Amino acid sequence: MEVIERVSIIRGRMEALRCSGKRIGFVPTMGALHEGHLQLLRASVQENDVTVCSIFVNPTQFNNPEDYKMYPRTMEQDAELLRSVGCDILFAPHAEEIYVQQSLLQFSFGPLEAVMEGEHRPGHFNGVATIVGKLFHYVQPHRAYFGQKDLQQVAIVKQLVQGLSYDVEVVRYPTIREADGLAMSSRNKRLDAEQRQTATILYSALQLARQQLPEKPTYSIKAAVEAYLTGAYGVALEYFEIADPNTLQPLAQVRPGQEVALCIAAHVGPVRLIDNILVNLN
Ligand code: PAJ
Repeated sequence: MEVIERVSIIRGRMEALRCSGKRIGFVPTMGALHEGHLQLLRASVQENDVTVCSIFVNPTQFNNPEDYKMYPRTMEQDAELLRSVGCDILFAPHAEEIYVQQSLLQFSFGPLEAVMEGEHRPGHFNGVATIVGKLFHYVQPHRAYFGQKDLQQVAIVKQLVQGLSYDVEVVRYPTIREADGLAMSSRNKRLDAEQRQTATILYSALQLARQQLPEKPTYSIKAAVEAYLTGAYGVALEYFEIADPNTLQPLAQVRPGQEVALCIAAHVGPVRLIDNILVNLN
């Protein structure tokens, strides 16, 4: 595996690969890699000639400075994992080169960023769009892989690609979970044993909502989830929403044949976690 840190080098390398007709798959990450990331990489290795993974803890998407400071950084271990799944190129740039000057560029994603992560993390998606837009320019992938775990992020990236005419196919890959249902996340590394146990409540809450979905009205399901989490020790619910999986807009009611997204965000100890499931209603 080649490790590239400089923007000029990755640009030249990718230009050459593109010109020689290679199909390029790309998995952008912030590192602290786990099985969720590795599955995206395996899919890319299988479906493309060359796979590039980027590792960059992007400062502009953290609305909480403490979260940025505490974000796990495990570069050497990550490089080993990338080799083990057959990744061809690791791009690990330095922040000074990515953000030569403070970026003043502002994106607007309309209603898509007015809800859930967009509402609760001001500026977050502006930072995501800025870095993903830059990385797409450097890497020039044919396909880019994103996890359903960050469902709203996938929708934002799709809107970015469409709005700026990137020639990239955005692939959404299902969420990979621990055996007890907890969605894998780099932030799980910051949970102590007790908090790790508690964190499974996010997935149980989604299951509770799924069971109630066919019969009960959405407001009553939301109330049930809120009550369930309010009763739990060490958890603070930020939001639970029943939403359209593409527009992410809240659904006041659901109908048979519809696909809905159940989305949750909560703090467990010092860590903010998110999760979602997609449900097809019969
Ligand atoms: P990061 O949190 O490192 O995630 C990188 C990719 O892995 C994202 O597409 C995310 O949705 C996916 N992913 C994370 N956990 C997953 C899981 N349990 N199952 C499946 N996929 C999972 O998301 C980011 O980084 C950043 O916002 C980034 C897109 C790199 C821009 O900085």
